[in-house]
Amino acid sequence: MKLNIAVLAGDGIGPEVIAQAIKVVDVVASKFGHEINYTEALTGASAIDAVGNPYPDETHEVCMNADAVLFGAIGHPKFDNDPSAKVRPEQGLLAMRKKLGLYANIRPTLVFPSLLHKSPLRTELIENADFVCIRELTGGIYFGDKGRNEARDKAWDVCEYTKEEVERIIRLAYEYAMARRKKLTIVDKANVLETSRLWREVGQSLEKEYPEVTTEYLFVDAAAMRIIQWPEGFDVMVTENMFGDILTDEASVISGSMGLMPSASIGIHTSVFEPIHGSYPQAAGKNIANPLGTVLSAAMMFEYAFKLYDEAAAIRKVVDASLDQGIVTVDIAGTGKAYSTSEVGDWLAANV
Ligand code: IPM
Ligand code: MN
Repeated sequence: MKLNIAVLAGDGIGPEVIAQAIKVVDVVASKFGHEINYTEALTGASAIDAVGNPYPDETHEVCMNADAVLFGAIGHPKFDNDPSAKVRPEQGLLAMRKKLGLYANIRPTLVFPSLLHKSPLRTELIENADFVCIRELTGGIYFGDKGRNEARDKAWDVCEYTKEEVERIIRLAYEYAMARRKKLTIVDKANVLETSRLWREVGQSLEKEYPEVTTEYLFVDAAAMRIIQWPEGFDVMVTENMFGDILTDEASVISGSMGLMPSASIGIHTSVFEPIHGSYPQAAGKNIANPLGTVLSAAMMFEYAFKLYDEAAAIRKVVDASLDQGIVTVDIAGTGKAYSTSEVGDWLAANV
């Protein structure tokens, strides 16, 4: 196949981890006979510095014309402690999600047998954990009206959802559940929030269409607890934007390193594949960041965007091999031998 990939490396460690994923993708493409064309485009703080906009129109064009977007990370500390900054890198990510219509963010929680001892949780609690969180990504409090009163001593962020928005994401989650262990957990705060009551109503109306799936409803506070007490109880979890943001960071800890976790954002236009870790500015330029979250995101790209399952499996297999053989960055190696970001990428490319 001919595949066009938009590469948005972004800020911090983004360019370093993306470079390793590209090494692996290139080898996979040549082994399976695909021709790949990469188009790089600016995003995040680096785009603000270059053109004053964290998601410039040219970047949007590149994404719209691509078969998939491989995304690194965005964010820069110079914006974090400046609440008055007018343009922020994160706005680029939100604009990209909205303009590409990426309403579903798929974040699997994976455990790797060779890393069980790295988790802050006891092995027996997590060894059978295998669930995927489907986070709604273009609605809710992230995108509702925001503002201040005239005296600027009062602020608001409105959480809004339409029935259509809720229905399309819960339906997608049911399709996932049908393809997995047929259990769906709808996470909300329906004892307090009206939007959550809408979610529950929509969930209850869709239940009938998926009689084979066991549906359960869980308040978000209880879900937060259960993720660490009994993660194997989850199969597919679906939730609104901000709850999903928080719960997926929590869930990423189960694996032992957030640097390992991939994600896919899918919806109306081109899908985006990115690691869930951020730009990790302290590590930028040091060649120490873990590239596996990005490499595994590339595996998700083959699977979701190109429907090339053997290619995705080949990438996952070499990642497992690298973990088994200890070809790992310092976040996993701890006091053992640590390899650099580019050494891990080279090893993966040589062994895929
Ligand atoms: C994520 C990030 C983003 C979010 C930030 C950078 C805007 O935390 O992708 O989870 O909150 O969605
Ligand atoms: Mn987040």
